[in-house]
Amino acid sequence: MRDFEPNKMKAITFTGIRKMLERASQLEAEGRSVVHFEIGQPDFVTPQYIRDAACASLQKGNTRYTSNYGTLPLRKAISEKLARENDIHANPDGEIMVTVGGEEAMSVAILALADAGDEVLMSDPGYSPYDSVIKIANAVPVYVPLDEENNFNFNLDELEKRITPRSKLLMLCTPANPTGTMMDRESLLKLSEICIRHDLVVVADEAYERVLYDGNRHVSIASLPGMWERTVTIQSFSKSYSMCGFRIGYIAACRSLMQILIRCHQKLVLCATSFAQDAALAALQGKSDEIDLMLREFDKRRMLIYNTFVDLGIPCNKPQAAFYVFPNVSCLGLDGDAFCSRFLEEYGVACVAGSEFGPHAKNNVRISYATSLEQCREGMERLRRFVQDLRAGK
Ligand SMILES: Cc1ncc(COP(=O)(O)O)c(C=O)c1O
Repeated sequence: MRDFEPNKMKAITFTGIRKMLERASQLEAEGRSVVHFEIGQPDFVTPQYIRDAACASLQKGNTRYTSNYGTLPLRKAISEKLARENDIHANPDGEIMVTVGGEEAMSVAILALADAGDEVLMSDPGYSPYDSVIKIANAVPVYVPLDEENNFNFNLDELEKRITPRSKLLMLCTPANPTGTMMDRESLLKLSEICIRHDLVVVADEAYERVLYDGNRHVSIASLPGMWERTVTIQSFSKSYSMCGFRIGYIAACRSLMQILIRCHQKLVLCATSFAQDAALAALQGKSDEIDLMLREFDKRRMLIYNTFVDLGIPCNKPQAAFYVFPNVSCLGLDGDAFCSRFLEEYGVACVAGSEFGPHAKNNVRISYATSLEQCREGMERLRRFVQDLRAGK
């Protein structure tokens, strides 16, 4: 039999995050206690009013395909939300499309907009699925190293050096996974100027736009002058409302870009799940009390973990958003892979090596604090022991 695996798939690995989770689950099955810092999924159950809306929708028999764009009431509510919170003015008729999570939205943007051989710029470290989907599209990922000294922001000179006539898309993830960094308006304005000058399309992944701390405000690049026509904005219900399993996200883009994207979405998935769209509508219409509560909880965990790293003298950026810290562990004499492997096998704490997010961050480790405060405390106690042992030469 011939080798059924095409070359493009040979370059795609099973994600390191899932590998860590599987090893952690194996250890748990053997009776070990494991603290889970590897998965980027809020531990909160979806607020009751949103679950009720999904049940009510099913009870009403809303089990058919919806429009490829998503239900009109949801698109109208998204349009109002975008205008109110993001200064994006998208017509619900033809400029908004509901997707199967932010992940499908991101995949559609790359598959529909990149031709084979086109170059797609992405940050290093960056959200690893971008790299895989770019390769599945037979396009070429081009890594732009982020400045660790500058809180993992884009170094715009480094970005410009990598732009060629084949550059087509720029993947922009702010607030960022895996670093918890967010770009401010001034940096985004400078970035916009570069994108306009080089005629790039920006795929703005804003999955964490509502998970913010210290009064930070998210700026959508599509709202900046000259950017609406060249930006695909992606947002999601997964992180903002703890709705990961509902698989609902959306794209806002100008009509001419949307005309390209909708045909790809239509051929891949037809539409997002009908009753999950009704739940998403309820989420947007509901009060934000429970969401605010989740954010306050995340903030407590963030400070506990950040302060522990600072206390142990391990360089660590203070996250401004999302639920990740990304310390540099090289001062312990280990790279991220060795750190993660020993931390899990010997101390029962699962986190993800920076190498998962690009070659530039091999000395970093991503810790997701989307787990309970109690588990965060336990994980930090184990970290203290691990670091003591390392410093004692063990
Ligand atoms: C940066 C980023 N974008 C997109 C996604 C996809 O999220 P979903 O498909 O659940 O909306 C994630 C999930 O972790 C993410 O971290």
